[in-house]
This record gives sequence, C-alpha cells and structure tokens, in this order.
Amino acid sequence: MNEYFLECVGCGRDYPIGMVNTRCACDEPLEVKFNLGSVPCNWFQSQRSGFFAGRYAPFFPYLDPDPLFSLGEGQTSLLRSVSLVEKLGLKELLFKNETQNPTWTFKDRGTACSVQNAIALGYRRFGTLSSGNMGASVAAYGSRAGMDTFIMLKDNVPREKIDALTIYGAKAFQVYGDYGELYARLLEIGNHHQIYFSLSDDPLRIEGYKSLAFELLEQMDGQLPDLLAVPLGSGGLCRGILKGFEELRDSGITSNVPIFIGIQAAGNSPTVDAFEKGADHIECFQNSSTLDHVLENPYPPSGNQVLRKLKASNGLLLKVNNENILTAMQLLSQEGIFAQPASATALAGLIEAVDKKMIPRGSRVVVVVTGSGLKYPPVLKEFDVSPVSVKLDQLPQALEAVLG
Ligand SMILES: Cc1ncc(COP(=O)(O)O)c(C=O)c1O
Ligand SMILES: [Zn+2]
Repeated sequence: MNEYFLECVGCGRDYPIGMVNTRCACDEPLEVKFNLGSVPCNWFQSQRSGFFAGRYAPFFPYLDPDPLFSLGEGQTSLLRSVSLVEKLGLKELLFKNETQNPTWTFKDRGTACSVQNAIALGYRRFGTLSSGNMGASVAAYGSRAGMDTFIMLKDNVPREKIDALTIYGAKAFQVYGDYGELYARLLEIGNHHQIYFSLSDDPLRIEGYKSLAFELLEQMDGQLPDLLAVPLGSGGLCRGILKGFEELRDSGITSNVPIFIGIQAAGNSPTVDAFEKGADHIECFQNSSTLDHVLENPYPPSGNQVLRKLKASNGLLLKVNNENILTAMQLLSQEGIFAQPASATALAGLIEAVDKKMIPRGSRVVVVVTGSGLKYPPVLKEFDVSPVSVKLDQLPQALEAVLG
C-alpha cells in the first residue's frame, strides 16, 4: 500500500491517489488518506507564510505544490464580533471572513489544491459544475495555469454570475436537466475528454478546505472554538474543515475537535431533513428554491457523509428561512461584513440554535462567512438601500431631515 491513497468515506474501499473524476462504486465520495504519524507535533509553533500546501506541508504530503499557481487564497481575517456576541450571550463570537479570498469565497482554497493536482497529473483541461461561485474560482485558477476551462452551470444561474466567470476565458455551458444526473455524467465526460473536473467533492478540493481549520488553530493561539457554524450545500466545505480538525487531533497537535453546526436554507434542506427524520441517507429534495441559489443542491454529493459525521460527533443540523437569512445578512453588515445570503445562513442558524437553547451560553463560536455579498447584488432589493436623491441647494435641509 502507498503512503497515501484515496478511501471511500462510505465503504472504506481504497483507490490510487491519482484517480480523478471518480466516486466509489458504492456512490459515495473518496477522500485522501495518509500517515498522520509523520506530522511533527510542534509544527504550529512557528508561523509561516506562503501557499498553504507548503505552509502546512506535513498535511499535504502527496503534493509538490508550485506557489506560482496559487492566487494568495486563505490567510483570511478572523474578526471578533463587536455587538452580537453580547446579545447572543456567547463568551466569544468570531467571524472567519472568507469573503477576502481571491474570487471572494472559500471555494478558492479547494480550487488551489485541485489545480495543483491537475497540473501534476498532466491535465490541460480543467472544469467544474457550479451554481456560480465554484465556477468563478475554477475559471480564475484555470486561467492562471493556462488551462482550457469548462464551467457547467445550473439552468437558473443568473447572468451576472456567468459574466463574472467568462471574463477569465472559461467556456460556460448553462445546462437544462437534472442536476444530480449532470453531476454523474460529468464524471464520465471528464474521463472521456481528459478534463479534470474539480467538483464539490473532488478529494483534493476537500483537502484544500482543511487549511481553514489550520488557520483557526493559529489565529486562536491553539485554543480551538467550542462550536463552528458552517452553511451546507454539497457538504464539501463542512467535510473539509472537519477533516482538518480531525487530522490536528489525530496527529496529537490538539486534543479536541469543535462541534459543528451545519445549516441549510429551508428552500433546500435534504441533509437537515434526513437528520431530523433520523434517517441514514439523504433523499433528493423536491422543488428547491433559495435566495442566491448557491446552496441549492437537491441531492448533495457529500450529504450522507455530513450526516454520518455530524451524528457521530454530536453536531447539530438546522434549517433557516429566508427572513432569518436576510436578518443575519443585516446583522453581519453591522459587524462590517457584507456577506451573500448563503453565507449569512450560518449566522442565522447559530441565532436559531441560541434561541432554542441548543448550545450552552458562554460558548466560544466561530461562524464561517463563506462568500461576499458583491457576488450577487440583486438580492439587495430585499433591503431599503436607496440613496436620498437631492439637488445641491437642498442638501442642508435633506441632511437635517435625516439627522432628525
Ligand atoms: C457562498 C457559499 N457558501 C456555502 C456554500 C456551501 O458549500 P458546500 O457546497 O461545500 O457545502 C457554497 C457552495 O456553493 C457557497 O457558494
Ligand atoms: Zn464505497
């Protein structure tokens, strides 16, 4: 057996590390396994900079990363809440501000890892299936690596999001048909045409998301939070951060793993619904409809694994409605953060968990703010954000009216 390989998260079957566009024969995703015994226990004692796969090299032993193809992803701010922390009765409330990534979402961490793998394996074609954000990320990294890039989009992705990725020269296809079936077809198409599809559960993408856990350990001076709130679409982000924390624990660097709160929008909540029913498997969600579409995955490829992992670790799974998501967006803006609705879903879930007394008062919590509000400005019509329109000579009166 190699030092590193891919393992099915469902049945445990092994596959070679270089396989791409592959799920297990049992239809569950694969993940990277390697020997954690080789990770030095004092690795985090001196801080390093640069591309995360080099910065945290012992956790990425299967990669020989070329920093040229990084766009400076990660190393995002961890912001302390100024007002909400007290209102919620928490000991600590921190926002991991993933809007600061190169294409303004956490997706860049995963794409940065996938593109390294694609280059190392000799691929000249790169692609993904996206409702917007992953497409922009894959288009940017593919462009920098000089690859031909192919982005498959859901039929309801709005034009604003498509323009933002075609600027990179990617070929975009807006595909009408069943999203789950499209996912399966892309694995075949990718293998047929030698396109590396960095889909939501590409094992290397999941590896990239681990970096968020490692950064938290550094930014919190080794004191991990009690709880971490994260929005769930495909479930890839949740799996990746959790894998990072588990690897920290299993290599003896930390002794615990934060409890995860996974949150879905009520307009598309297959993973939460399965959890509430006590089911072992998710079922395809019918008639999905969410505010900015990026969480709208009716049959999340990593849904079963999220369900298993969160059940086994006393995690919480919650769904929140549009009104609560918009309120959370506004609360984040009061903390100085402009998040897109999918991101605000995490804070909305945390507020619900506090209201329902599902988490202890005095907890230390990190909310992952996954993507920028600038990704989808049309949602601002939900708020009253129009400027006062006034002629110059009327300005003093207009200002006085506002000052009251
Ligand atoms: C802004 C944003 N937040 C959260 C998610 C959910 O991430 P995942 O699909 O990995 O669960 C997505 C997915 O597209 C996203 O774009
Ligand atoms: Zn399997």
